[in-house]
Amino acid sequence: MARFSEEQIEEVRQRSDIVDIIGSYVKLKRSGSGYVGLCPFHNEKTPSFSVNPARQMYKCFGCGVGGNVITFVMEYENYSFPEAMQHLAERAGISLPEKEMTAEQKRQESLRTILLEINTKAARYYYARLKSPQGKTGFDYLKERGLSDETILHFGLGYAGQGGDELYRYLRQQGYNDSVLKESGLFKIEERGCYDKFWNRVMFPIMDISNHVIGFGGRVMGDAKPKYLNSPETKLFDKSRNLFGLNYARQGNRKNLILCEGYMDVIALHQAGFTNAVASLGTAFTEQQASLLKRYTDEVLLTYDSDGAGRKAALRAIPILRNAGLSGRIVNLEPYKDPDEFIKALGDAEFEKRLGDAQNSFFFEIEELRRGYDMSDPEQKTRYYHEIAKKLLIFQDKVQRDNYLEAVAAKYDIRRDDLRDLVIRYSNRMPEGYRKEDRQERERKRNQKEEEKGISYSYRLLLSWLIEDASLFRQIRERISPEDFMEENYRIVAEMLYGQLEAGELVPAKIINYFQDVEGQKLAAQMFQTDYRTKMGREEKEKALNELVVRIKEYSIDYRIRNLTNVEELQNLILEKKRWQTPQNLHISLKDG
Ligand code: UTP
Ligand code: MN
Repeated sequence: MARFSEEQIEEVRQRSDIVDIIGSYVKLKRSGSGYVGLCPFHNEKTPSFSVNPARQMYKCFGCGVGGNVITFVMEYENYSFPEAMQHLAERAGISLPEKEMTAEQKRQESLRTILLEINTKAARYYYARLKSPQGKTGFDYLKERGLSDETILHFGLGYAGQGGDELYRYLRQQGYNDSVLKESGLFKIEERGCYDKFWNRVMFPIMDISNHVIGFGGRVMGDAKPKYLNSPETKLFDKSRNLFGLNYARQGNRKNLILCEGYMDVIALHQAGFTNAVASLGTAFTEQQASLLKRYTDEVLLTYDSDGAGRKAALRAIPILRNAGLSGRIVNLEPYKDPDEFIKALGDAEFEKRLGDAQNSFFFEIEELRRGYDMSDPEQKTRYYHEIAKKLLIFQDKVQRDNYLEAVAAKYDIRRDDLRDLVIRYSNRMPEGYRKEDRQERERKRNQKEEEKGISYSYRLLLSWLIEDASLFRQIRERISPEDFMEENYRIVAEMLYGQLEAGELVPAKIINYFQDVEGQKLAAQMFQTDYRTKMGREEKEKALNELVVRIKEYSIDYRIRNLTNVEELQNLILEKKRWQTPQNLHISLKDG
């Protein structure tokens, strides 16, 4: 891990003002002594993301993410720690001479970095193979599908050979062992031998928004099944959080993004100049993907297959887009199946027209609904109108709902007032807690309750408390030492925090640097940002603090008793525990105020 010195890390952190940096990604508004904005890591309509300039930390009270400026860049750009450092250093005009890494340091580099390296090497290997005589089958196939050399290079397409273990042997030669190769998801590593998982396929490297190759999709030559084989989930590859083509699409300057079903669709669209096309990765469109898109646009054009399955998939994607605050429009590709075929048949000008004519997603839903009813039967027609009324309830904004109501009434020739009456009727009937937000809120409260039972919650509470009110340090130090934190990460953080408090310089954002992976940083950031109940009165607070200290102390004593080898020590611990069970003498008192 020691690629950068502690001083280098601190310099980069200090010279990268958190409000500046986050403000360049997220619209921030002043609020009290800090800033708030809409959280870029989850979907929300009211801001619960806050940035604290004094502490140089951020925190989202909705989804719980948090950290310092380096954490933010790692999370937002999907950078590794060294990449985030480089990025911020460049911005701040700091040059970062990297230390020459020794073999040992290399081994210590995080698994993530090694897996990225393996994927990059694999992608290069597949590409070279495609361009070699042995890759002719794959190359001819892509050519036959109309891709130019430029497009093939741009997307880094490749070819996985005729089976066997060629890539495996190549990467072994490069010094990677079976255990990391297994983690890459590219191989079958078994007792009786190791094989390449992908063969006889053209390969589509899947890149995250920062152009890292995080996985592959491979299309078989011919009609074998499965048609597309994708990398399994790995430390790098989370299908639900990435979109194929977004690394390029996010750089474009079109006002919307096009969402398709397939790799080939994205590639064909980019080749035709629609560089704002992306695709989900062989699974249904997810909420996380929607919030990823929301970072770059407010409008998504859906170009799913025009068959029944494609329309169903569109119906599932629409509410997800809506919940993320994205407006969706559905592109009609008839009589062709998908964008790739459409462009090939009618060309890009015609496609552009279809984009312009794309249908509002609400109307698409209403029309799809209509397929289930026979409009010549008054009974069914009535039921259909009732369904429309219920559906209008998804619009919580009254003006928006009214506008849709008017439009629907006009379009289907329903009397506007009748439809409005129906809507009001259903809206009164809607039971409390039916709305999705309510459900999410309940879920969050329940999770929080669960969490409060755990000892780590107590650790976080105490650490946050110390940071908020350093004047308690002396009294707390007399009772709880870092050794009383029985979980390693907490102990490390407590040691650093105690060190800072003793030296009289409190910089929690610096402690976060100690952890160089996002998970560790998040954990560290959380340790400082647990709500310690500011609304409590002094007495109530004092009681809570004392209970907290006793809980931590007892847990520590119990832990030591459980792991004891020496009987004399047991006596001492039991006595100590007794003392804590009658804690009058150990009482911490808060100053008034
Ligand atoms: P389609 O079957 O519509 O394929 O799958 P396509 O994109 O038109 O493929 P071509 O044109 O025949 O080459 C759409 C997407 O669904 C995923 C892939 O991501 C594919 O791009 N898929 C499909 C799989 O993951 N596995 C499969 O077996 C099939
Ligand atoms: Mn296709």
